[in-house]
Amino acid sequence: MSKTIIVSNRLPVKITKENEEYEFKLSEGGLATGLGSIYQEGNNIWIGWCGMEVAEEDQSLITEKLHQKNLSPVFLSEEEIHFYYEGFSNETLWPIFHYMSTYAEYEQQYWDYYQKVNEKFKEAVLALAEPGDIIWIHDYQLLLLPNLIRNELPDSSIGFFQHIPFPSFELFRLIPWRAELLNGMLGSDLIGFHTYDDVRHFTSSATRILPIQTTANIIHKEDRNITIDAFPMGIDNDKFNKLTKNPTVIQQKEEFNDIFGKNKIILSIDRLDYSKGILQRLMAFDKVLADNPKYINKISLHMIVVPSRDTIPQYRDLRDDIDKLVGNINARYRTPRWHPVHYFYRSFPIEHLSALYSRADICLVTPMRDGMNLVSKEFIASKTDETGVLILSEMAGASKELIDAIIVNPNNLGEMYRAIIEALEMSEEEQKTRMRSLREVVKKFDINHWVKIFMDQLHEVKALEQSRMAKHANKDLILQFKNQLSSSKKRVFFLDYDGTLVNFKANPIDASPDEKLYQLLTNLNKDERNQIVIISGRKHETLEEWFGHLPFDLIAEHGAWQKKAGGKWLETPNLSDKWKLAVRPMLESYSDRTPGSFIEEKRFSLAWHYRKVEKGLGELRANELISNMRYLTREKDLQLLPGNKVVEIKNSEINKGKAASNYIFGKDFDFILAMGDDHTDEDIFENLPASAITIKVGSSVSEAQYYLRDVDEVRNLLHHFSS
Ligand code: UDP
Ligand code: G6P
Repeated sequence: MSKTIIVSNRLPVKITKENEEYEFKLSEGGLATGLGSIYQEGNNIWIGWCGMEVAEEDQSLITEKLHQKNLSPVFLSEEEIHFYYEGFSNETLWPIFHYMSTYAEYEQQYWDYYQKVNEKFKEAVLALAEPGDIIWIHDYQLLLLPNLIRNELPDSSIGFFQHIPFPSFELFRLIPWRAELLNGMLGSDLIGFHTYDDVRHFTSSATRILPIQTTANIIHKEDRNITIDAFPMGIDNDKFNKLTKNPTVIQQKEEFNDIFGKNKIILSIDRLDYSKGILQRLMAFDKVLADNPKYINKISLHMIVVPSRDTIPQYRDLRDDIDKLVGNINARYRTPRWHPVHYFYRSFPIEHLSALYSRADICLVTPMRDGMNLVSKEFIASKTDETGVLILSEMAGASKELIDAIIVNPNNLGEMYRAIIEALEMSEEEQKTRMRSLREVVKKFDINHWVKIFMDQLHEVKALEQSRMAKHANKDLILQFKNQLSSSKKRVFFLDYDGTLVNFKANPIDASPDEKLYQLLTNLNKDERNQIVIISGRKHETLEEWFGHLPFDLIAEHGAWQKKAGGKWLETPNLSDKWKLAVRPMLESYSDRTPGSFIEEKRFSLAWHYRKVEKGLGELRANELISNMRYLTREKDLQLLPGNKVVEIKNSEINKGKAASNYIFGKDFDFILAMGDDHTDEDIFENLPASAITIKVGSSVSEAQYYLRDVDEVRNLLHHFSS
């Protein structure tokens, strides 16, 4: 039976060493709970770093103990922790991915170790993985791992989820090793982010940096399709609901009531991190007290900062700055019986957090950037009496779902100030209305829902990928085609030209046939039972120049022109080209506005090419052109064909499909094969009889029955047919 392997930088366990004895405490974090339903089952397993340096002689003991809990440790040396974890993960990727590019360090040694440790994780996975296993990799520390595993286990099912934001292309491109990172991630079958913005950013970086194609949220890379989607992560809603009834929590809440009385509590809980906006939050609170003396003695900011990564200079500096600012605010406003800021630099058990969430009047969550932010959701889940106000930064992934919070821009001090006042003054009725709808969202999209929809989609994507793979014209299928061929007497081969027989060139006229292609086609055509038909969107003059001297039948301009071998070019009768008068000026206006684009004129069509246009701009203009032309094309009975970096406009009566079916009409071919790479070839695939072998080149998303990866594979197949 196949198993599921979870991989993350950290294992969901805290290991401590007391009196020479190791102690293990399972983490209560949302991810650990959500994935608990997976990794604790059967022989499933979670692979990760155990969070500390472990002496070599103790490693086997720890491994054995953790295996009993379905956990498998990866041990990191001091240098690995320094260069891979603190270095590349947290001093290069973390600041860039959180839009703090000035904090980013681009050290070769960090990168070397990042690669080395990702390799180490790969070895750990390979030691346990078997064919058919599902591998789910988590977060930015392991961006290279999906492809490392893919190279070793090509058929495995690999999901990747990134828990932090994916930055816009302008930020991501700064990283010297950006292409390697993207290639690493694209080893996955499914890549998940918290928000649609992250999906957009990732897809735009990938298409700008790598030579890949996309269709909606699917990336086509070499022979694989990778789905990119948003899966907003939730929390263990039931747990936080139930905790409010736990006796320890109730008692703790009473203690808070004794301490705070009727005072309003503003709660703030974060890991120590410059992405969390802790200083900005303190400044806004400072302004509330400065401008509103009525709140002195009446409100308190209860601020928990959980120690994190404090060996990294920026984190250490931040800690000092927070200490100073808290000291400063307290010194200025405190009274003998009242402190404005209650600041704790440590972590607390979940019962303590639950009591605080449930007692707090306001939760102030104002990160400068955050992938999701679970604290905001935990606060909501703990508000069983439906009171309380959430102030939430629009830069947190959670703001996309928690729209009934007071949403603020954390860079706008005035807005944060006003939000705090609004929250302090909000009527109970409004609090309840907002909280009810927030609670519904948190309840529905909880951690179990998140795990389920990610896993379901990974299964679905893999199943689709497998059925697609089955369409690949591999050795076995080629043998089958050859058998069909040898038992047939009258054969026709419809061959598209660009992208099928030859690769694309920046300048279309440079894509002329090479000697090998001539030889290949001539060999194939030697057998008198075979008839080659070149069927292309090219001008008939071009096909004449390249193939006119050979015994091939030619179809040009998608069927507007035809020529039998040795005969004359004939144009399809009764076609008009008067429509060009109206269409040409429109195309010219697009060419004038779009450097690098050009118009190609054929007898019965006009094509607007953008293969030399800046990436992104060409696609934008093409979409604009298509939508602007919609009315005109309907009125003049034209057809709009979006192709590979080209939009072609032609009479709607002409298409390759009609041309191909006219060609075979009444000719009783007993072997028909068609190959093409383009939109326009889909018409051929659709129009040929079901017995025909139809092959799409370069992609598998098609009406064709089979596909080939590239021109080399096409040529290889033709070679088999002629030998
Ligand atoms: N947390 C904790 N102990 C504490 C304070 C917070 O375990 O003393 C937890 C909190 O309950 C939440 C997590 O830390 O689940 C923080 O997650 P979040 O997504 O808000 O931020 P991250 O640390 O992942 O950037
Ligand atoms: C964020 C990251 C996690 C990371 C956590 C704590 O939530 O997305 O991958 O584990 O912070 O950071 P740490 O460096 O202590 O593992």
